[in-house]
Amino acid sequence: MKVNIIKKKFNPKANLKDYEKEYKDFDINLFKAEIKCFPDGKTNAAYLATDIHLKGPNKNKIALYWEGENGQELKYSFLELSEASSKTGNLLKNIGVEKGDRVFIFLPRIPELFISFLGILKIGAIAGTLFAAFGPQALEDRLKNSGAKVLITHPDFYSRVKKILPQLKNLEKIILIDEKNRVNFLEEKNLEKSPKIDNCQFYYSLMEKASSKLKVSHMNLTDPAFMLYTSGTTGKPKGVVHHHQAILHEKISAKYVLDIKDNDVYWCTADPGWVTGIAYEILGTWALGASTLVYQGRFNPEKWYSLIEEYKVNVWYTAPTAIRMLAASGLDLVKKFDLTSLRHLASVGEPLNPESVLWGIKAFNLPFHDNYWQTETGGIVIANYPNLDIKAGSMGKPMLGIKAAIVDKKGKKLKPNKEGALVLKPGWSSMMKKIWRRPEKYQSYFKNNWYITGDRAYKDKDNYFWFVGRADDVIKTAGERVGPFEVESALVSHPKIIEAGVIGKPDKMRGEIIKAFVTLKKGVKPTKTLVEDIKNYVKKHLAGHAYPREIEFRDKLPKTRSGKIVRRLLKAQELGLPIGDTSTLEDY
Ligand code: WTA
Repeated sequence: MKVNIIKKKFNPKANLKDYEKEYKDFDINLFKAEIKCFPDGKTNAAYLATDIHLKGPNKNKIALYWEGENGQELKYSFLELSEASSKTGNLLKNIGVEKGDRVFIFLPRIPELFISFLGILKIGAIAGTLFAAFGPQALEDRLKNSGAKVLITHPDFYSRVKKILPQLKNLEKIILIDEKNRVNFLEEKNLEKSPKIDNCQFYYSLMEKASSKLKVSHMNLTDPAFMLYTSGTTGKPKGVVHHHQAILHEKISAKYVLDIKDNDVYWCTADPGWVTGIAYEILGTWALGASTLVYQGRFNPEKWYSLIEEYKVNVWYTAPTAIRMLAASGLDLVKKFDLTSLRHLASVGEPLNPESVLWGIKAFNLPFHDNYWQTETGGIVIANYPNLDIKAGSMGKPMLGIKAAIVDKKGKKLKPNKEGALVLKPGWSSMMKKIWRRPEKYQSYFKNNWYITGDRAYKDKDNYFWFVGRADDVIKTAGERVGPFEVESALVSHPKIIEAGVIGKPDKMRGEIIKAFVTLKKGVKPTKTLVEDIKNYVKKHLAGHAYPREIEFRDKLPKTRSGKIVRRLLKAQELGLPIGDTSTLEDY
């Protein structure tokens, strides 16, 4: 295979001057003092992302540029962000939230999402984020497992929550964001009265009564700060818990991988329902004092370019599917905008194909820098860097402080160019702390003194890592991680379906799409209308992004003798690959 190497000219202004040297010399202990931000040696990640700036020159600098889906614009300085999040912390305390309680956020990408997240961390509670696309089933699984005590959501989303309230025994309070009062509140005008909705309370009414003076909780470095549900091959989604010290690795990687500088305007297109939106839209990047752009609206090439132009974005962090979609919308569109503010481009979430790296050069005169990590790793672990040549298609080299290797089943390191399991040496600061209420699941990530990523890869003789694929059935569609089990469960709850098997099918644009194989109840006709009905059913019950784009009806699905559907076989059949050992299967 011919590899395209993008040679870099030495850039003396980049934060990382010499990768090899800095990697060798890196000592995390030299950074530890930074996060022990209180005299008693304790910490708080939200304090480090906001309040810490109040003592320095960033106090009145814009932390958040926000643009709503209808074009509304707002700015919050670090001071304003700090005060708003402290007030939210007090608001939560006033309604009974205590250290360690889970407070979940189910919101569109509006300022209150970011403010609430910080407020929750400031009082030592654990923040959980939820994608706006989630339906009742996805919400129930997460809110029930986490035992969330408070949910912060939006009146437009409430109907989805209401359906599952009887199942949520631990949920004591629901706060709705009364968006129409945002500006009234900011301008200290009287609030408009909100209509009564069940027992919900309204955010800005509560904010009016809350003080902005907050004693931020002093946390141990390894106290839990936030949690995210993510998917594996089997079972329901699992709650990955991260600690306050995660911010250390996130800050260092934001500096050296994303090359964030003090005066940068930075745009991360991710949603905080996903770990990227927490690590590099809230914690790591605000800890560095970057001005961050948040756009509430959906993907739209023209709008995206206009945002880069208008806000003079310097560093842009996005994802492969978006890059491929931008490329498909053509170079002529790019040329209509002045995008010369851009200095550094990065991408995460799924394999970045070489053409996309090179398209960056054609369109913006800059390559996209691929980097690799997971919800569980809490921050970037393998990356391409400003002053390091890029081998297009490679994920790059291990991040400072990270030891990565390719090993065989016994944990033995493999020679260059040999495919094996991608593993990491445990111990970096943003490594997950636990899987909520599933200690045995957490333990299953560690073998032979390695953290097992579940990905297959190889490294070449120059120590560049190349992604091969997942070792399990986890699906990555447009960068979103989807567990086949969740989709199968949603499918079989459809009144006309008996069984379902779900796989990721390679797709040029989205990396993979979800394909479902289903058997129908006796007498049900497999029609086109039924296909649409099933798609809508999954969208509505589970999540807008986790529905099968392709559905195939089958009389029978391949199963093991113990009755488990064999996705591996469905995938092999779909892709025309050898089907392997079938001796454990029931007659098929
Ligand atoms: C995949 C995302 C190839 C991988 C922050 C991983 C990637 C999973 C890359 C984690 C990349 C992420 N190249 N594959 N640069 N980045 N992945 O938890 O399979 O949503 O295990 O976190 O995405 O997905 P998650």
